[in-house]
Amino acid sequence: MCGIVGYIGSKEAYPIIINGLKRLEYRGYDSTGVVLYKEGDLALCKTKGKVADLEAISSKLAESKSTIGIGHTRWATHGEPNDVNSHPHLSNSGELAIIHNGIIENYDAIKTQLVNNGFVFHSDTDTEVLINLIEYVKQQEGVKLGKAVQIALKQVIGAYAIAVFDVKKPNEIVVAKLGSPLAIGIGEDEYFIASDATPFIEFTNNALYLEDGEMAIIRQGRELRVRNINDDIKIENPNISTLNISLDQIEKSGYDHFMLKEIHEQPDVVRDTLRGRLLVNEGVIKMSSIDDHLNKFIGAKRILIIACGTSWHAGLVGEYLIEDLARIPVEVEYASEFRYRNPIITKDDIVIPISQSGETADTLAAIKLAKEMGAFVYGICNVVGSSIARETHSGAYTHAGPEIGVASTKAFTTQLTVLALLAAKIAVSKGSISTTEFHQFINQLDAIPNKIAQVMESESKAKEIAKEYADATNFLYLGRGYNFPVALEGALKLKEISYIHAEGYPAAEMKHGPIALIDENMPVVVIAPKRGHYEKIVSNVMEIKARKGKIIAIVSKGDTEIVNLADHYIEIPDSAEPLTPMITTIPLQFLSYYIAVIRGCNVDQPRNLAKSVTVE
Ligand code: M6R
Repeated sequence: MCGIVGYIGSKEAYPIIINGLKRLEYRGYDSTGVVLYKEGDLALCKTKGKVADLEAISSKLAESKSTIGIGHTRWATHGEPNDVNSHPHLSNSGELAIIHNGIIENYDAIKTQLVNNGFVFHSDTDTEVLINLIEYVKQQEGVKLGKAVQIALKQVIGAYAIAVFDVKKPNEIVVAKLGSPLAIGIGEDEYFIASDATPFIEFTNNALYLEDGEMAIIRQGRELRVRNINDDIKIENPNISTLNISLDQIEKSGYDHFMLKEIHEQPDVVRDTLRGRLLVNEGVIKMSSIDDHLNKFIGAKRILIIACGTSWHAGLVGEYLIEDLARIPVEVEYASEFRYRNPIITKDDIVIPISQSGETADTLAAIKLAKEMGAFVYGICNVVGSSIARETHSGAYTHAGPEIGVASTKAFTTQLTVLALLAAKIAVSKGSISTTEFHQFINQLDAIPNKIAQVMESESKAKEIAKEYADATNFLYLGRGYNFPVALEGALKLKEISYIHAEGYPAAEMKHGPIALIDENMPVVVIAPKRGHYEKIVSNVMEIKARKGKIIAIVSKGDTEIVNLADHYIEIPDSAEPLTPMITTIPLQFLSYYIAVIRGCNVDQPRNLAKSVTVE
């Protein structure tokens, strides 16, 4: 994981790097550092902790007028988070500096070779090994930095996005990418380097996303030179994208946390996801990414959804939607299991990876495997231009905008929106639902953004409930049918930001084990909209009540049965059952948010987590 930032130009580098690192803290935040070029020397400052901690100890660097530098915010893989293991790392001579996002898998063998050649190591990191390998190559081969980086990377197994600086070539930064993202912002006479475009959007909207296996030599005042690392071919006219992100989108806009802002953005972003695709007046769903491959979808023997975390939960809802409407068998797999279990895939299968970041290493590897085995891969992804978006044959963006809070909220509801569009579109195209059913469904879907807006009113109630249960040590979340994945998602949200143990279960499974946990200290969140298996879930609620469990119920407006049994309830607007997860999930997001706030947890940057999991 980790975030990298670099700058070369005529502006002061330090504030650009520090602000950029703050925007990339979602990628990791256990340690951080910056190195600037200053009058023939390198000025380095790094520390365990967050970018704010770095700022507090780097006032000298802040005063420097340096116009070249690189910085890093870390999510530890090799070596615990401490000052020494923080990036940037310097080579033994002190002349080369590196920042790195990724893992060098064969670092141990390379380290042994370097130690045998007299190199010494101060940290436990694979990155310090890489910078010394580059130095070794440079010395042995008598080549310049760019060539040394290229030769060294050919010996490396693993993943990397790196930026390397040589004090002897102060007008140049060398970058390279394999498996981890790297964007180069192109300004006038200046370049920005970053893990994504957010650190430089106020300076330029021209960005080059390096492809895997590419490197670039970035020189101030000179044209960018991009090469293929392995075959040394120069990439002519690299593809420069025009960015469409505003500064406001990546700031908190008055909210206390990004998570809260992102919860509140859901009515708008779900509307954005539907925009131009759901044309209710014309009675159609228009998605060229499906139209272009319609026969594949109609003829699919099976659909495999692969994802991790919250995206996997969205995939489970997708399974219900696609099987229910389009009558195609669906399997949902954790990408990490799929890629290592010798799966059976045929060319008649469609594989749908789902990912907010588009950079999740396991999902990316699973896509590559599915492609090798002949499947058609249709991605559902949020980050435009991300690795997953580029690796898939076709796909749909979720248009949620930048999601900065580590806990996914709007990414989930927009993923559900795309899955609903996809399922309905395939279903009506293959005739597994009638035109009338299709029209009813799309009318319901069209109403979802407004219904999500109405559920925002549940915030104060969720806050009140949170006060009562913030000290709980365990939570149980129960749901049935379409709302079973919502129970899993509600539990994950609570765990990751409040550190309270929580389990999600299909409500009927409770009798097969978890019921043993229920006593007067166990809050049980029951997702029970008045659709689907309502009567069954009423029975489950009674079973909890009989054992004195505390019931927090999410019910449809006008419910009379469960509200009489529950200790607390939150009402949601009624909707067609397949679409209820997009509504029922909102009060659960608020509940976990307020519990985490009351417990004093770092909501946007929970311990041990990172937004983008680019290591397996
Ligand atoms: O970017 P992705 O959707 O591929 O990320 C998958 C998971 O890492 C992610 O959903 C994670 O579980 C979130 N922290 C959940 O809130």
